[in-house]
Amino acid sequence: MRWVQVECRQEVHADGQDGDLILRDARGDFSSFQGQAACVYLDPPFMTGEDFYVRMRVGEQGWETGRNPLVLSAYSDKFASKQQYLDFLRRALENARDLLREDGSLFLHLDSRMSAHARILCDELFGESNFVNEIIWAYQSGGRTLKRFPRKHDTILFYRKSRHQYFDITAVPQTRSEHRQNHMRRCVDENGRTYRTIQSGGKTYTYYDDDPVYPGDVWTDVSHLQQKDPQRTGYDTQKPQALLNRIIRCATRPGDLVADLFAGSGTTAVAAAQTGRRFLVSDINPLSLTVTRKRLLGTGMTVTAATVAPGAAMQAEIDPGIAFNDVYVTDYRPSCDAEIIGLDAVDQWSAGFYADGIFRPQANAARQKQSPALPPVLQLPQLRGIPAILIADVYGNRSVWIQEDA
Ligand SMILES: C[S@@+](CC[C@H](N)C(=O)[O-])C[C@H]1O[C@@H](n2cnc3c(N)ncnc32)[C@H](O)[C@@H]1O
Repeated sequence: MRWVQVECRQEVHADGQDGDLILRDARGDFSSFQGQAACVYLDPPFMTGEDFYVRMRVGEQGWETGRNPLVLSAYSDKFASKQQYLDFLRRALENARDLLREDGSLFLHLDSRMSAHARILCDELFGESNFVNEIIWAYQSGGRTLKRFPRKHDTILFYRKSRHQYFDITAVPQTRSEHRQNHMRRCVDENGRTYRTIQSGGKTYTYYDDDPVYPGDVWTDVSHLQQKDPQRTGYDTQKPQALLNRIIRCATRPGDLVADLFAGSGTTAVAAAQTGRRFLVSDINPLSLTVTRKRLLGTGMTVTAATVAPGAAMQAEIDPGIAFNDVYVTDYRPSCDAEIIGLDAVDQWSAGFYADGIFRPQANAARQKQSPALPPVLQLPQLRGIPAILIADVYGNRSVWIQEDA
């Protein structure tokens, strides 16, 4: 049976209510989500003047060993001038502001290159009185130099939409740092609880070891992803989930909508899903969509991006069973000049149903570090509609296929 590509504008997983993953420019139209987000986190290009890449693992062996990844361009962080960068940032920030609810918060993640300019821009767009914090995220990683102090922090500008802002610092307790305790006298009270005391200015301050402590505006307890960190997706500039967990937990309640218009590897969406929030994440790069889609499989997401793999070919078989049919993908060619062909070129695939430009997956398969082999067969319930297969390949193409006579 011949399989042909069909135009598909949306993938709807389960009821599609957990969140949205969209392929869109951050300056594009997000008006259908206006006033709905409790938190917008933006991690845009920093104007580094560099190019960034995605390292895609390929095939079972590539996933087992991590060797010979396919290195693809992710995005270019090059702007002709500071003004061009600030115009770009302004339009993304205007969208962020419009997305926010009245009690919402913006977190704009930058580094020392543009943070001062961005602060002035945010003052203009959000109002100086709505500035909340300049968070310093300090880390150990990065290069060394003797020419100046090595740059070891990012800056996260935190603004509220209005004075009705929701914020709960008690949602983000930290473990009490040993450093602070070491300077203090250790005591045990009549109930057996340990505490530390220190005298200052004629007063005695008491800190119980089991009392929660809360972060200040300098965050030193969240490390950058290490080389072998299991969270690593291969997407350059990926941020740690712990960073987004903290931001999301203090600025939103369960069920709230968290938005990120520079999704990258999808860290914000993953953190939102893990903490019981809904997500709206978008990026201009199809590879971001591929990487993020995989991290979100199992959630009820809606993916809005036209599927297209020009010149691709796919072969599959359907074996009828009782109640379920077995669906096999037997071959895939990304395009005539692709270096990687066959099932090695498939990063993820789903079996589902197709109708009116919408694909509804019923079963998903994806290569992962824990399961490098691509599951060869997926089960599709019988008699629900037109059987269809979605392929997400290692080049970032997504394509939806149905049988020619369907
Ligand atoms: C610093 S990365 C984001 C990393 C992300 N926070 C993560 O944890 O993986 C910036 C992202 O902005 C995207 N980007 C660049 N220009 C864009 C634009 N005009 N609209 C939307 N996304 C854009 C890039 O494709 C890249 O994925």
